[in-house]
Amino acid sequence: AFVITENCINCKYTDCVDVCPVDCFHEGPNMLVIDPDECIDCTLCEPECPANAIFSEDEVPEDQRVFIELNAELAKKWPVITEVKEPFPDADEWNGKPGKLKFLKK
Ligand code: SF4
Ligand code: F3S
Repeated sequence: AFVITENCINCKYTDCVDVCPVDCFHEGPNMLVIDPDECIDCTLCEPECPANAIFSEDEVPEDQRVFIELNAELAKKWPVITEVKEPFPDADEWNGKPGKLKFLKK
């Protein structure tokens, strides 16, 4: 499956949801996750993310591997999102900031 990692937090550009053929993105308060049981590894979403937050599970950087489990866990809890919406107004300021995990709202 593909996995959304830390840099989505407080950006949530949502360009990714537009291309997914199986609607497996789920929306939380300040990030999205991918349901690993639904993702078909089509790869389409990865280049769409302006924050470069999406990785194939086997390419998730070492310091981001906690997000593999977080995507699986939170996808069960959060609702599906299928339509692009406005990112947070300050998304560009958050893009690339390190240490955003502590701001994740569940
Ligand atoms: Fe959806 Fe394809 Fe991305 Fe998986 S890899 S989340 S199926 S767009
Ligand atoms: Fe997040 Fe990137 Fe999608 S910032 S909402 S994974 S386009």
